[in-house]
Amino acid sequence: MTQQLPVAELRRRFPSKFIWGVATSAFQIEGAASADGKGASIWDDFCRVPGAIADGGTGDVACDHYHRLESDLDLIADLGVSAYRFSICWPRVQPTGTGPVNEPGLAFYERLVDGLLKRNIQPYATLYHWDLPAELQRNHGGWLARDTAYRFAEYAEVVARRLGDRLVSLATHNEPWVSAVLGYERGVFAPGIKDRRIAYQASHHLLLSHGLAMEVLRGMGLKCDLGIVLNMSPVSPATDSEIDAHHARLEDGRLIRWYTDALFKGAYPQDIVEYLGADAPRIEAGDAELIAKPCDFVGINYYHPTVSSSSNPASPATSGAAVTDMGWEVAPRSLSDLLLRLKRDYRLPPIYITENGAAYRDQYVNGRVDDEQRQQYIESHLVAVAEAIERGVDVRGYFVWSLMDNFEWAEGYRKRFGIVHVDYSTLRRTVKHSGLWYRSLLRAAI
Ligand code: FCB
Repeated sequence: MTQQLPVAELRRRFPSKFIWGVATSAFQIEGAASADGKGASIWDDFCRVPGAIADGGTGDVACDHYHRLESDLDLIADLGVSAYRFSICWPRVQPTGTGPVNEPGLAFYERLVDGLLKRNIQPYATLYHWDLPAELQRNHGGWLARDTAYRFAEYAEVVARRLGDRLVSLATHNEPWVSAVLGYERGVFAPGIKDRRIAYQASHHLLLSHGLAMEVLRGMGLKCDLGIVLNMSPVSPATDSEIDAHHARLEDGRLIRWYTDALFKGAYPQDIVEYLGADAPRIEAGDAELIAKPCDFVGINYYHPTVSSSSNPASPATSGAAVTDMGWEVAPRSLSDLLLRLKRDYRLPPIYITENGAAYRDQYVNGRVDDEQRQQYIESHLVAVAEAIERGVDVRGYFVWSLMDNFEWAEGYRKRFGIVHVDYSTLRRTVKHSGLWYRSLLRAAI
């Protein structure tokens, strides 16, 4: 075990108002897949496609958070965090994605928000963490349909009418690149489509839906911060060759600039539009302006860098590097470099690291999970954030992914990201070493 930094020393490197949190998403933890009038989502459908999920897992039970809300709230409070990031399941609120509200679904999120506030924890909500109402995909084209963006803005309004007075932060989307590219181009996530043209049209509609929702939410005069959450895996070329540099630049454009340029510069990057050719999305007059409506914050989810070459456009690790159980390279430096690059290239609103964390093969032994590697991963990435702050980047908060082990999408339940262990046969929660360490960091006198 490597030497641990004294927690107070690390803690002192952050501003006193810095937000410390943990994150989850609805589909990954809630379970209760058809309880109280909830409609199916595209992930409920996708989990039933043979071979789609590595261990055959589904979201039917997950961590059963829906039925364990109060004790999970106590667990979150016990960690000493100042904020909790969660997502709202659209088909729980609107079972088919349009029309009447499913009251028990919305009431669940109201209990969650009120339960957080009662425990002095700030609610950071996300409207869309990939669980599109299945009906919109089955019969209306999903995100390929422009209409879905308008449905999303209506859903945003429904949620904000009920909860907007109590939320501290509201993000429209979590990682639109994942929704578009993994869902519609590579087909490894729901809805499992493999078509580049559809994927880029979907990405445009996802961003458009963000803009439409921002317009509606702004019009409501909410006090909470409004923004969006993006995944970023900084890309570097595998070698010094010109061809690898070219591929790295393209991958950077598809992964990062496609979203940051549209949101914060008002136009898609020209090199990627040219590269896409006939697969570039159809854009209507006024779309670009809507997408670039000012945000109060941008959330960044960072896990690992990407290495790009002509033979392999996007590999998550350099050979020989330390990797997590996902095969993702552990590279905290790349997080501080990313933050500095964003500061140089864009005029961004305040940044939150809305996700960062690691999967490891934890062993539960005699009531303990000694996940030193995860603790070191989190610690080293916090040092990277502190360095970026010291160099002038406006980072306001950090959320560990994840509060607890949960359904890791196409990997099912085999990959554990939690700072709290979940025993899937009993659903018992046990705070891991990393969770105890995070709590000691948050409690450290500064
Ligand atoms: C991110 C997702 C999150 C989780 C982590 C490991 O891309 O937003 O739900 O699965 O990866």
